Amino acid sequence: MAKRSSKLSIFFNLALVLSLLLIISTMAESRLIFNAIKASSKVSCDSVIGVKSGETCTEIAAKFKLSTTVFDAINPNINCSKIFVGQWVCIDGSVN
Ligand SMILES: *[C@@H]1O[C@H](CO)[C@@H](O)[C@H](O)[C@H]1NC(C)=O
Repeated sequence: MAKRSSKLSIFFNLALVLSLLLIISTMAESRLIFNAIKASSKVSCDSVIGVKSGETCTEIAAKFKLSTTVFDAINPNINCSKIFVGQWVCIDGSVN
């Protein structure tokens, strides 16, 4: 009985260690991907605002006198079909 439960706990520990390793390697990998995305877009944002109820990308761009091209360029991660109240959008910045 005692032998059996120690075997079981070894197995359990092994499974725990393996899953921890898996979690760590997944985290390291997603950090690499994140850094690659950050490095590829050389956008610097100097000013952000929170989206208010009913606002669209076009309205925000017009309000801050930005062309939609500039707006899209400084907001590469925003999907204008999916913006939501309180989302941060960049309204001043530059792309190198
Ligand atoms: C933005 O979101 C819409 C709706 O979910 C989707 O159809 C569209 O493909 C998305 N566009 C981009 C550029 O991700």
